[in-house]
Amino acid sequence: MPPVHILGIESSCDETAAAVVRSGEFTASSAIFSQLATHQPYGGVVPELASREHLRGIVPVVRQALKDAAQTPESIDAIAVTRGPGLAGALLVGVSYAKALAFALEKPLIAVNHLEGHIHAVLLEERQRGNRDLNFPVLALVVSGGHTHLYLCERAGPQEAAAWRYRLVGRTRDDAAGEAYDKVAKLLGLGYPGGPVIDRLAPHGDATAVNFTPAQIKGKDRSAAKESAPTFFDFSFSGIKTAVLRHVELNQMQAAILKRHMSLSEKAKPALEDYLAVCDKQTLDLIASFQHTVVEDLVGKTLRAAEEFQPAALFVTGGVAANSELRRCFEERSARAGLPVFFPSCPLSTDNAAMIAAAAYPRFLLKDFADPQFSAEPSMALG
Ligand code: KG4
Ligand code: ZN
Repeated sequence: MPPVHILGIESSCDETAAAVVRSGEFTASSAIFSQLATHQPYGGVVPELASREHLRGIVPVVRQALKDAAQTPESIDAIAVTRGPGLAGALLVGVSYAKALAFALEKPLIAVNHLEGHIHAVLLEERQRGNRDLNFPVLALVVSGGHTHLYLCERAGPQEAAAWRYRLVGRTRDDAAGEAYDKVAKLLGLGYPGGPVIDRLAPHGDATAVNFTPAQIKGKDRSAAKESAPTFFDFSFSGIKTAVLRHVELNQMQAAILKRHMSLSEKAKPALEDYLAVCDKQTLDLIASFQHTVVEDLVGKTLRAAEEFQPAALFVTGGVAANSELRRCFEERSARAGLPVFFPSCPLSTDNAAMIAAAAYPRFLLKDFADPQFSAEPSMALG
């Protein structure tokens, strides 16, 4: 079969991205138009601004992806786009653009779930590395700013042209883990996004200094309310955010936080030294303790789910999968459990379009194309 080039388009949140992936196994290009600078002053993603920025970014980013891959609109075989979940206005930009492009070029259009994309980021990079011997089912933790979901993933057959099945076996009941990182960073005057900053600062604090209790949630599978039904592994991260706020208030840290916020907002791109210069030991200990609790919870629950479902491998993917402590802890604990664990590279952990094009490849082979009338689905579920 000749190589298949799929143009992927992603616009579910605050990154406008386009990529060309060859036959689900090689990233020919991956272009990202980041909106970080637009949202940074607001301490989070502003949906209206995100839609406007996607409109500004989508044409140049698609042109860039085609150029970097030495492809033309005519030479690609199909267009894949994120249908959901995500911000309604943001998704609509990508979906409308992809539909118009597919119609004008008479190319097949494939609608992809963003979470499925995060899972396929791992598969894409493993194939790119020549690792074609992955065994299934896989237990995938998708952990990002919008999601903390555990899926059991299986392919319907051994060949590439096989449909994927996803079974949700756990999810957050409130905030996503990345959302907790972002809210805690904002609360401590560290700016947005919080994950990468906390990741870099945590090793400078004592992770045992503050004793946070992770939420213990365990229940039966909601779809099968029988005694024998498997356990459902849910997460909750809103409690730890409130606990950090209480710690700040009890220890009267507010004045120092305000000073830190003012000092950091004067710098366009603060370096680690800038952050360290404005964080005292008490703050660094709080950051380290917060991260330790979140990581322990993510790793502990995922490994307990693995004991129950006995997968052949673990995938950890999504923006928070870029976290160094999470990676280290997963590697150590899954090695002890004799379970292989796979992560995407850091650029493919956060939102990108290569993962969308990769997830579309099996659908392309199965001719599972989108109805031209389909629309964006902000609350789209997977599985
Ligand atoms: O997957 P992603 O780019 O977008 C969503 O689908 O949400 O994830 C973004 C999230 C943000 O909450 C960000 O703070 C978090 O991923 N993040 C991290 C790290 N890098 C990004 N969290 C912890 N450690 C990191 N190194
Ligand atoms: Zn994402």
